[in-house]
Amino acid sequence: MKDNENHTLSFDEFDEMVNPRPEECDFDRIVESALSRRGFLGGVMAFGSFAALGGSLTSAEAASGRFAFDQIGTSTADDVIVPSGYKVDVMMRWGDPMWSDGAEFDEATRGTAASQERSFGDNTDGMDVFPHDGKLLLVVNNEYTNRSIISAKAEDGRLVGEDEIAKGMMAHGVSVVEIAFVDGKWQMVKDSPYNRRITPKTEMDLTGPAAGHDLLKTDADPTGTKTLGTWNNCGNGTTPWGTYLACEENFNGYFSSSEDVKDDNPKSITPAMKRYGVNTEDWGYSWAEIDERFDVAKHPNEPNRAGYVVEIDPTDPNSTPKKRTALGRFKHENAATVVNNDGRVVVYMGDDERGEFVYRYVSNGVYAPGAPTDDLLSDGVLYVAKFSDNGTGAWVALTPETTGMDHAEIHIHTRQAASAVGATTMDRPEWVAANPKAPEVYCCLTNNKNRGVKPNAGGDDTAVNGPNPREKNNYGQIVRWRPDSGDHTAPGFTWDLYVLAGNPTVHSDAYAGSSNVNADNMFNSPDGLAFDSNGLVWIQTDGSYKNEGDFAGQGNNQMLAGDPVTGEIRRFMVGPNECEITGLTWSPDRRTMFVGIQHPGERGNSHWPGGGDSVPRSAIIAVTREDGGLVG
Ligand code: FEO
Ligand code: CA
Ligand code: CA
Repeated sequence: MKDNENHTLSFDEFDEMVNPRPEECDFDRIVESALSRRGFLGGVMAFGSFAALGGSLTSAEAASGRFAFDQIGTSTADDVIVPSGYKVDVMMRWGDPMWSDGAEFDEATRGTAASQERSFGDNTDGMDVFPHDGKLLLVVNNEYTNRSIISAKAEDGRLVGEDEIAKGMMAHGVSVVEIAFVDGKWQMVKDSPYNRRITPKTEMDLTGPAAGHDLLKTDADPTGTKTLGTWNNCGNGTTPWGTYLACEENFNGYFSSSEDVKDDNPKSITPAMKRYGVNTEDWGYSWAEIDERFDVAKHPNEPNRAGYVVEIDPTDPNSTPKKRTALGRFKHENAATVVNNDGRVVVYMGDDERGEFVYRYVSNGVYAPGAPTDDLLSDGVLYVAKFSDNGTGAWVALTPETTGMDHAEIHIHTRQAASAVGATTMDRPEWVAANPKAPEVYCCLTNNKNRGVKPNAGGDDTAVNGPNPREKNNYGQIVRWRPDSGDHTAPGFTWDLYVLAGNPTVHSDAYAGSSNVNADNMFNSPDGLAFDSNGLVWIQTDGSYKNEGDFAGQGNNQMLAGDPVTGEIRRFMVGPNECEITGLTWSPDRRTMFVGIQHPGERGNSHWPGGGDSVPRSAIIAVTREDGGLVG
């Protein structure tokens, strides 16, 4: 921080950016305004204020902080780098068979649809562990596939051939895998009765306010209550009652239209589809070629049956996953679950698209251990966030009265409902995480090149605003809020920015980042986010690894840990070439950290983890301390 003080953004500079200084305003008034903001936040350390104030910790605390590791530098090596004293084991890779009758991964063919259905899926993302009956179950999202990696036969990034397309489909979904620490290493337990692949073909229930609505009915399901499968499951959540939440994100990229398109306004693509990015062409998956339901010209309601949070009981391999329409339909990143002081269940969620919104769900019922839980994610109120530039904010309920839409429709066309109430457009809300040590919630706003440039897909204005203060935001930031009175169901909150990512070696203005960013810890595009049991917040990146221009010196994607109190951020891990680091959880004894390494070599320049000429494979790694100590 010291080396770059002149190049980083001070609190006052940030405050000025958020509340532009009137012409006649003098320096003293700016300082006064900054100080009153701190007072207003009631003790929350407004971002950058630690450095700006010269610090309020003892010198010993400031020197050691709460970090158990020494920061590492950036890296462009095709490997996972961690601090000295830590080690990395690859635990499971895309294509590893989960049953002994499954085929081992074949480097030449990269598998078949049949082998993939019996193997760990691709592109590991959100995950969590569930201790059950003396065993440990790991539930992992397999978000998507990179067509040129999964198939040696892909043409221009498009899967061709029925089996290759089906293989790609079977690499999606969720994997439930028993894991165990055997012979000094964490390993998959093949043939465990709990092992399960949930795929785009798995039967699911549609539940909650939208279930049974006409917009969810199809030829195959005239009830609008039964659907097949889940895909593009990004981040996750875990409920207090031990179920897993898989969040459907870019569900739109799998639909296409067989309409003979001759102009820019195809009849099969409705305005409602456009708001969610459903278009005449898919993103290269070719699913409509093997399954007609992905053809919106024939089945226009199918896209309405995706874009939800899916609740899965990992302890019952025969259970039917439930799509929870009460939590809204959008490009769900993850679902951060909190039990409020009064027992109501609160779920915070982001919609990852440029200029979309942050949501909160509050159950009507209360959680009580042992009592029925089925209604808790089906019966509640959905809210959307409005951030004011003065550091306060409000949750606006999405109801027929506020939106002019009927109850079911709010939960199908949730983006439109949120636009109707004037929600604050955000810089791509990614993961949300609630601090277990304090009533505060953090959300990564990963980047937004359209900020201040053009409206979102619903036409909402995206001029810079309080929590999204930079035009053409290519670095991202983390916003945090504190519910009024520590009550997660309260109508209001206060907010500040925990960090503005940036590059102080390239810029000397707001794009240098906040004062807790410096040449030694800089990063771009915060995405994954999780708190450990000590209250440190872990930040995973999915950004540019160009390592030049605006991103010079930032290396490969990385994982850092932040202290919520001091604002200090230290780099803990750097991933292999062209990967994203996403997904984080810990063993129950907190001696192992499980981390997801997604899509190494997405542009053809990695052979991790096998090395040599091997096909790059997404994988979950187990990170431990060499002295066997705690890792979070
Ligand atoms: Fe799948 Fe928004 O990341
Ligand atoms: Ca993400
Ligand atoms: Ca991302």
